[in-house]
Amino acid sequence: MGNGTENREQWGSRLGFIMAAAGSAVGLGNIWRFPYITGVNGGAAFVLVYFAIVFTIGISVMLAEFVIGRNAGLNAVGAFQKIKGGAWPVVGWMGVIAGFMILSFYGVIAGWTIAYMIKSVSGLMTLAAAGKAGDAFGAFVTNPVQVIAYQVVFMAITIWIVYKGVGEGIEKYCKIMMPALFVILLILIVRSVTLPGASKGLEFYLRPDFSKLTGASIFAALGQGFFSLSLGMGCMITYGSYLNKKEILPSAAVTVTFLDTMVAFLAGFAIFPAVFAFGIEPGAGPGLTFVTLPNVFAKMPGGMIFSFLFFLLLFFAALTSSVSLLEVCVAYFKDQMGWSRTKASWLLGGVITALGVPSAISLGGNLKIAGKDFLDVMDWGSSNFLLPLGGIFISLFVGWVWLDGAKAEATNEGKHPFSWMTAWIWICRVVAPVAIAWIFVKGLKW
Ligand code: TRP
Repeated sequence: MGNGTENREQWGSRLGFIMAAAGSAVGLGNIWRFPYITGVNGGAAFVLVYFAIVFTIGISVMLAEFVIGRNAGLNAVGAFQKIKGGAWPVVGWMGVIAGFMILSFYGVIAGWTIAYMIKSVSGLMTLAAAGKAGDAFGAFVTNPVQVIAYQVVFMAITIWIVYKGVGEGIEKYCKIMMPALFVILLILIVRSVTLPGASKGLEFYLRPDFSKLTGASIFAALGQGFFSLSLGMGCMITYGSYLNKKEILPSAAVTVTFLDTMVAFLAGFAIFPAVFAFGIEPGAGPGLTFVTLPNVFAKMPGGMIFSFLFFLLLFFAALTSSVSLLEVCVAYFKDQMGWSRTKASWLLGGVITALGVPSAISLGGNLKIAGKDFLDVMDWGSSNFLLPLGGIFISLFVGWVWLDGAKAEATNEGKHPFSWMTAWIWICRVVAPVAIAWIFVKGLKW
């Protein structure tokens, strides 16, 4: 068995690590999923609940993952093995399996972003102007050859970045793509909020109406927070394992959580004012991005450019997340099985791409398991089952099983005490496990 702790790769700088971890967190979850979930759940009141959850439970589980990862300096499985052993490595195992599952369908949807960048400048605007954006989307996702081709292209880029390594691949490209993403987002916001009629969208997004809040929306906020912060599968354990011992972990958790939440919040400013300005339904569901927005862009002066920029933004966001999903799997095979990075990246990336093919085909409507599309099954199984279960065990591990070790690691052996340590510990001990168990039990309903 290889031991990854000697000569282990490390992040080149604090900024590089923050960009990579924020890159993992900021993804399709923020720009594609957050706005439509907010739309479906009634707007501003949901956003407030989301913030409350993310800055209590989310931030605490993220810190727990950083602490475990840096202490062990190993992948998700190896970290639990090294710190405690027993049955705990099973938590890491579930994470690696979740990595395979999530990336398999994530790569399919991410592939759409490449297709839509190309479509934006080759006729999508004309189709949308003629009211055919929905038909065009339907025709596209039910054409397996196209969907798989774009998925393969996206996965090849993901694999290539991971193959280049932690510093020369993941860190380097996240440091380029994350600032670019931010600039594009700002351009889109300025365009959106200056459209005539934008204020109705701002009102929907910013004026809370608590009567719209239901148990189901709180549940949705928890699930969304978990997925958006990349928690529960050892992603932040793996990224934390490449950190040096001087890094201050609580402030890193605050920064990454803040950046992720800010991008999700800002994505709403790019989308809702435009959607309302053109009189489109905000609760349109998953199609909000690929169907509704092209309609919006088609009606704007210079829409082709804004449409292209939007899908480029989505592409960058997806890519910096997909590399983190693949890295969880690669780190495991590298550390525990002694595989080279090259072999692990290409082989595992290839397997995951193949695993995504049923998801890609299922959108044609004829690959169902118990009445659900294969893609939904993968999403459901990971988001409602493996991630929350992983989150519960990670919190309990830090809160009860390995408390003194976790405290020492979180404070750099007492050199950097942090003000919210007591809150962190009690959230890990009680609040997070109970809240997540609730997602788990509710989510199990098929
Ligand atoms: N957080 C990413 C997003 O918002 C997706 C993601 C990347 C993820 N790594 C993860 C989700 C690990 C759960 C676990 O799109």
